[in-house]
Amino acid sequence: MSFIHSPQRRWLDLVVGIALLSLLGFGSRYIFLLNNDSRELSLDSALAMQGQRVSTDQGCVACHTVDGSIGVGPSWRGMWGRQETLSNGRTIVVNEAYFRNSLTDPQSQLVQGYANVMPRFFLKEDEIAALIAFAQTLSSPPPQ
Ligand code: HEC
Repeated sequence: MSFIHSPQRRWLDLVVGIALLSLLGFGSRYIFLLNNDSRELSLDSALAMQGQRVSTDQGCVACHTVDGSIGVGPSWRGMWGRQETLSNGRTIVVNEAYFRNSLTDPQSQLVQGYANVMPRFFLKEDEIAALIAFAQTLSSPPPQ
């Protein structure tokens, strides 16, 4: 019993404890980065890359896919310049003005066939510019 409480034993506990904690910390960070990387597209434009990050941080990715598959909302693949029919029967073409309006007032122009569930977003100008660059990159050919 005296060994358990000896000062050497306490040091050993401390060292082993720190070693295990750092393993756990670095390990989970590594796995987190690995997962995030595999989900991130690598794009030529730095601004588009930033837009991709904004889309992840703001949660756009939860509802909008980037591979063309349908999510809660329309996919961003090929979105730029695409013609959409709205719930009121009108048609629009996705451009910058429409994109901006979709962010701050999504209910005013609902895409036909989708639920009215998109929250309003009030983002900083540089975040919006980055999102636009990202969305444009997902259309081919990307607009200039
Ligand atoms: C809770 C789900 C949800 C989230 C989160 C969300 N959206 Fe949406 N979004 C939708 C739905 C549903 C629609 C289609 C209905 C409509 O027009 O509002 C839509 C439509 C859009 C449109 C019009 C698309 C088109 O093809 O006409 C744009 C642009 C858009 N969203 C951008 C964004 C951006 C940027 C973000 C993140 C800052 C975001 N959305 C977050 C659900 C979401």
